[in-house]
Formats: sequence, structure tokens, C-alpha cells
Amino acid sequence: MGGGCGFAPLRSLMYSLFDLSGQFKQLYFRGGCKNPAEFLYRREIESWYDRRDLNMQLTVDRGDDTWKGNVGLVLNILDTVQIDYKSGVAIVCGPPVMMKFGTKKLLEMGFPDENIYLSMEKNMSCGIGKCGHCRIGTYYACKDGPVFTYSKIKNFPEIWD
Ligand code: FES
Repeated sequence: MGGGCGFAPLRSLMYSLFDLSGQFKQLYFRGGCKNPAEFLYRREIESWYDRRDLNMQLTVDRGDDTWKGNVGLVLNILDTVQIDYKSGVAIVCGPPVMMKFGTKKLLEMGFPDENIYLSMEKNMSCGIGKCGHCRIGTYYACKDGPVFTYSKIKNFPEIWD
């Protein structure tokens, strides 16, 4: 699940997963942006609709004349993911508000804490573990992450700040 600038790292991830797609029962991509003009790699990512190894849906908060897809929050198109959530793995990268409410929704759906991977690239400054701006509890996102499982950081109150 992703949104906004999160499409950049997710695009690379998806190509790696496509190379391994025979190893997954099902592969889903759910992405959203504020409006169609904000989609990074829009044509390329829309071409994934043609893939037989991917169940794909995109959405925007506000459509325009070029947009024929869903309108609404990305959280709303998570409901169309039909898998055994207990054995599913979710990877989330996007704006903080999407990360926060997306994670809550995934937990409600039944994804285990340890199977939700969050890209916590926020407040990065020095990038070498000196300034403390990227601190998440006892971790530094720049040194220890930036990708953490929700189970690893869920008890730190400031993870969504
Ligand atoms: S960015 Fe400075 S400690 Fe992580």
C-alpha cells in the first residue's frame, strides 16, 4: 500500500516482487494520491493493470477529466483485498497520515503486527545517527531502519508524530 512519494520505493519493490511472483499465492497493489497529477510513474504504474500476476487498484482523493478510476481514500480500497490476512504480509510507504490510518486498518483486517512493514523515512537530517531527528523510541530510522515491522516500534508513542 502506498501513496504520494511512496510510489518511488514501492515501484522498485514491485519489480522485485514481479520477478518472484510465482512464489506468492496472490499479489496486490493498492495506491492513492490526492489527484491524478500527483501520481509518480503514472503511465508505467497504470500499465500494471494488465499484469495477470497482480491485483491492482488505484485511487485519488479528487479526480479530473483524465481519471477513470476510484475516487476516495486508499483505505477504502483495502476492503477489496481478499486473502487470509493472518498469513499475509503488508508493506506500507507513503505520507504519515496514510501510514498511520493504513496501519490501523491493516490491523483491523487481521494482519499480524510482525507482518506489517513500515517505511519510516521521516525527519531525516544527518543520516548517520548523530542528530537524533529521526529517532523512533530506542531506534534511529537512518541507522536501524528505515523499514521496521509494526511489532518492533508499536510501543513507542511517537511513531506517528
Ligand atoms: S537522521 Fe540524524 S540521527 Fe538519523
